[in-house]
Amino acid sequence: MLIGIDIGFGFTKATDGKDFLVFKSVYGESVDLQFRENLLQTEKNDEHIQIEIDDTPYFVGELAERQSSSRSFTLDQHQFVSSSSKILALAALSKLVHEPKQSIKLVVGLPIGHYRQYKKELKETLQTTHNFTSVDANGVRTEMQIAVSDVRVLPQPIGTVMDRLLGATGIPKNQRFASDKIGIIDVGFRTTDYTISDKGRYSERGSLTTRNGISRAFTKIGAKLKEACNIDIEIYRLFEAIDSGSIKIRGKSYDLKPITERSFQQLATAIATDANTLWADDWDMDAIMITGGGGAVLAPYIEKQLEGVVIPIKQDLDYRLHNVRGYYKFGLYTWRTKEQ
Ligand SMILES: Nc1ncnc2c1ncn2[C@@H]1O[C@H](COP(=O)(O)OP(=O)(O)OP(=O)(O)O)[C@@H](O)[C@H]1O
Ligand SMILES: [Mg+2]
Repeated sequence: MLIGIDIGFGFTKATDGKDFLVFKSVYGESVDLQFRENLLQTEKNDEHIQIEIDDTPYFVGELAERQSSSRSFTLDQHQFVSSSSKILALAALSKLVHEPKQSIKLVVGLPIGHYRQYKKELKETLQTTHNFTSVDANGVRTEMQIAVSDVRVLPQPIGTVMDRLLGATGIPKNQRFASDKIGIIDVGFRTTDYTISDKGRYSERGSLTTRNGISRAFTKIGAKLKEACNIDIEIYRLFEAIDSGSIKIRGKSYDLKPITERSFQQLATAIATDANTLWADDWDMDAIMITGGGGAVLAPYIEKQLEGVVIPIKQDLDYRLHNVRGYYKFGLYTWRTKEQ
């Protein structure tokens, strides 16, 4: 069994090749849920992710956001790799692995800026047998024993290239991606990653991580809202409001369109300027791809300011999931060739 996991600062994304799982990269201590039954049917779709590692109980994702009194939502990279990544990865496995005892292989990604430094540590953290407990929405406990026999770590945006290069069964299908020089801009929640895939190879020279994630724009919009109504809104709650163009606070509706337009424009300019500077000498680049959940929102603004041809991303999937689908395909490709 093969699983791809993309642990972002905003969202953890995972796939077993059939299903996709997305949850907020937030976890917290679990509390006793006194009323386990839902009062209204509408909450049925909420994902219940609850695990126990070494006797420490955790709520993960939306559940942590709603129920945990103290939540970790880390933006610190070292802490992220050493503690959060394991909790978030096991949380994903608790949903995707259906047998209590299972052996699996994993492909995971790290931000470009931390790839070299943390690649080994992340592999060591994950490549072992994990014993933990998974607790479902009704309180039923399952002891899990997941043996992770092999782990591959990729620079995050390379997932998107792999997704285009490889077919659904992990066989290279798109020659263009194997022979061309492609720049990738991955706009995430906190970071924007730049990298180059040169004939299918990752080039460290054209790579960079900046703090220009979509949260930059969200923070600005949040500050403006605070001015208007004196309420602090956690930025990871703003996505839907920004998407729909307005937000209702204490019954009053606020129009978010003008401030959103301005903030996106500014952020896109910063992102495009960095790309143009970073790749100034890479005039032989064939094309540029924009990916990541933030890319879905900012691509129209960024595109206009880039020096180069932009390949539109396939619209068949949530932008946040292109990397992780690529990880999965890369796993198929890697372990297929080895085992032949
Ligand atoms: N359907 C959606 N629901 C929520 N957010 C979405 C959705 N589609 C796009 N987004 C945007 O995607 C962003 C998160 O993108 P992504 O999952 O790629 O970031 P990340 O990988 O978690 O962050 P980083 O790369 O900085 O670690 C959100 O902040 C939001 O702006
Ligand atoms: Mg990301």
